[in-house]
Amino acid sequence: MTEYQEQTRAAYDGVVELYASLFADRLETRPFARSMIGTFAELVRGTGNPWAADVGCGPGHLTAMLHDLGLDAFGLDLSPAMVAHARRAHPAVRFDEARMEALPVDDGALGGVLAHYSMIHTPPRDLPALLAEQVRVLAPGGLLLVSFFATEGPEPIRFDHKVTPAYSWPADRFAELLAEAGLDTFARLLHDPASERGFLDAHVMARRR
Ligand SMILES: C[S@@+](CC[C@H](N)C(=O)[O-])C[C@H]1O[C@@H](n2cnc3c(N)ncnc32)[C@H](O)[C@@H]1O
Repeated sequence: MTEYQEQTRAAYDGVVELYASLFADRLETRPFARSMIGTFAELVRGTGNPWAADVGCGPGHLTAMLHDLGLDAFGLDLSPAMVAHARRAHPAVRFDEARMEALPVDDGALGGVLAHYSMIHTPPRDLPALLAEQVRVLAPGGLLLVSFFATEGPEPIRFDHKVTPAYSWPADRFAELLAEAGLDTFARLLHDPASERGFLDAHVMARRR
């Protein structure tokens, strides 16, 4: 495990209850994100392979949402405390302690991968390898929905996220990295900030070639 992953794990282990109380509402107050996740679930079902991972699932509320939307969804997170919380809160859903960089999934097995603000802590130099790992586990035609904070280009910007340092990305630059990893972006939603930092919220959907 890298130093930033250890730091991220320790940081999220320390804020589980607070985080869950703030964000475990299944996006009732975030209609754009909710609609993209609903569309993602519908399109993944349409591939005929409903097996989907919620990577960096945190308290597990979105994994449960995917499950309720008809996907055979499981969640994973590097924070053991988040995974314990998710298992308690959603006993019908599977949650594993794992890193997004080394998914416990066979090549080409999944119809979908959801990464909802979970790649925000990955240093830019490590993002290509992280995306390559998501491509490895997706079946051809499988879908990735990734949400992150967006800023104007040309380069990502490091900022002091409340839990642990994070990066905002120019949406075009992020799409270029997806393309280089073997994913074709076919839908992007950028909307005014839900956060007081002023970053746009970006939701990008891409299909594995
Ligand atoms: C901002 S939270 C998002 C949680 C959830 N997806 C949501 O939208 O509420 C980021 C989550 O990603 C997890 N995470 C960050 N880096 C990770 C990695 N390399 N592997 C697995 N999980 C990671 C953190 O532990 C944390 O639970």
